[in-house]
Amino acid sequence: MVQRPLDMAHEFLAQVIGPEDTTVDATMGNGHDTLFLAQLSGQVHAFDIQEKALVQTQQRLEQSGQHHVQLHLIGHEHLAQYVEEAKAVIFNLGYLPSADKNLVTLPETTLAAVEAACHILLPGGRIAIMVYWGHPGGSEEKDALLEFVQELPQEIYTVLEYRTLNQRNCPPFLIMIEKKVEKHG
Ligand SMILES: C[S@@+](CC[C@H](N)C(=O)[O-])C[C@H]1O[C@@H](n2cnc3c(N)ncnc32)[C@H](O)[C@@H]1O
Repeated sequence: MVQRPLDMAHEFLAQVIGPEDTTVDATMGNGHDTLFLAQLSGQVHAFDIQEKALVQTQQRLEQSGQHHVQLHLIGHEHLAQYVEEAKAVIFNLGYLPSADKNLVTLPETTLAAVEAACHILLPGGRIAIMVYWGHPGGSEEKDALLEFVQELPQEIYTVLEYRTLNQRNCPPFLIMIEKKVEKHG
């Protein structure tokens, strides 16, 4: 069976994460991605603007015995203030399914966060962005994001997209970014 975008996102990141690495979950939510990163990396920073997300994620991590995660109750647009370097970053855009569906990621802060993630990304590091865009405002965020990532300089980044082409109702899709390893000599 064809791999779903979220599974592809995890595999894309897992390929480069080692046990010493620092990783970032830019949209903590219920903590599924935070736990995924915690199981692979040495240090995880996770961000969300909702207290509920921190509570859910904390519970999930405790149940799994993962203690090397720092949860930040602040927008991901500020991530560079907390993380100097990262090997992998994941975004899951949109709203938290179990909470207020009006509390969504927004174009301006999402772009600022993706830009910050690009800056802190180590050479060979990767960013996975799951784009959910069926909700009000989602289409505008998607368009702004696609415009932004398409302009990333190809000398430094490789940018890919993974999506179904024949599915109805705004199917979620994946944007993958890799920072190239500098060539010497
Ligand atoms: C689709 S959910 C994330 C799902 C999550 N990855 C999981 O595994 O359950 C999107 C999350 O982004 C959060 N969010 C919205 N704006 C944000 C911002 N500026 N910074 C960080 N998180 C934000 C929402 O509160 C919501 O929890």
